[in-house]
Amino acid sequence: MSSIHRGQNKGQGMNQHGSMIDPFGRAITYLRVSVTDRCDFRCVYCMAEDMSFLPKKDLLSLEELDRLCSAFIDKGVRRLRLTGGEPLVRKNIMHLVRQLSRHLTSGALDELTLTTNGSQLERFAAELAECGVQRINVSLDTLDPEKFRAITRWGIFDRVMRGIDAAREAGLQVKINTVALRGFNEDEIPEMLSWAHGRGMDMTVIETMPLGEVDVDRTDQYLPLSELRARLEQRFTLTDIPYKTGGPARYVEVAETGGRLGFITPLTHNFCESCNRVRVTCTGTLFMCLGQEDAADLRSALRASEGNALLSSVIDEAIGRKPKGHDFVIDRRTRRPAVSRHMSMTGG
Ligand code: GTP
Ligand code: 5AD
Ligand code: SF4
Repeated sequence: MSSIHRGQNKGQGMNQHGSMIDPFGRAITYLRVSVTDRCDFRCVYCMAEDMSFLPKKDLLSLEELDRLCSAFIDKGVRRLRLTGGEPLVRKNIMHLVRQLSRHLTSGALDELTLTTNGSQLERFAAELAECGVQRINVSLDTLDPEKFRAITRWGIFDRVMRGIDAAREAGLQVKINTVALRGFNEDEIPEMLSWAHGRGMDMTVIETMPLGEVDVDRTDQYLPLSELRARLEQRFTLTDIPYKTGGPARYVEVAETGGRLGFITPLTHNFCESCNRVRVTCTGTLFMCLGQEDAADLRSALRASEGNALLSSVIDEAIGRKPKGHDFVIDRRTRRPAVSRHMSMTGG
């Protein structure tokens, strides 16, 4: 904690130790940074097929991203997750990872991690491990190469498999993230669970969230996880466990496989009361909630001066209006997404 920050503890959104506390008493210790809005896939629930992406000039440079992340670490962030789009398609991304790893070495950061589609892992897994990354989340919705092609539109299944193998070989702990989709992978979840657990990987299933216009009808795709869990319980013995990663998943242990399965249930069981995070986009826009439109422009603050005092006060002011939670609903009457931006902009 720098003395500048200690001296500013009267600011909104900040407690006397200089950490970020929101109006509902939640400490913000987890930052998710979307380093690019681009992706080499076009998952049907995430993107429209012809997406337009941001012009390069609007992006924060890698140096600016580093400065921004470091400012948040100074303000009490202990866990940092790089997301996208696909974080590993950002040019020279490993330079940023390497730079940020100094905060692991210094002890200022507990965890540096990323959420990836796995397509570039074969290339980067060893270097990620070298930089102190210990755990990564890989998004994977099916084990069937044809279905994989259909859901990602552009993805190559074998490449992702090789990426996952490379990550495990490099000693990274891999968690598989699967969006549960009715009529697509609901019958495949048991097989995926056995596959993941057989390789020592945790798995989480996720309810699809109404973010951004996509070409499919989310009402048809939405599968409440309460229903999935009931179905899984006919085949597996699931025991709730207190295991926590700091993310929104609630975990069970699966007796038959000995592995962990997490449920991320933004629709059927709101977890916002324990929210500990905010997210920044690749243009330096701070979103205080994944499911709300309110945002703060950090890029201007970043560029206005070399020191971080202004940036710090803009962050405090924004944390001071972090909303209580999202208002996601998926039903036939509400056809429009809850927020207009796509998941690829804020990275989950
Ligand atoms: P760990 O628990 O650290 O492994 O990560 P995580 O589950 O928080 O992150 P990950 O990037 O793997 O995200 C998994 C899913 O959780 C994605 O679909 C995210 O969009 C969703 N998610 C993460 N944080 C939030 C949040 O604050 N609100 C909501 N509604 N969903 C979130
Ligand atoms: N709802 C839920 N999860 C989504 N993801 C992308 N779009 C959505 C959505 N609309 C998931 C990806 C990835 C994570 C970052 O978010 O599959 O696992
Ligand atoms: Fe890319 Fe992930 Fe979105 Fe799929 S879900 S298009 S992999 S950002």
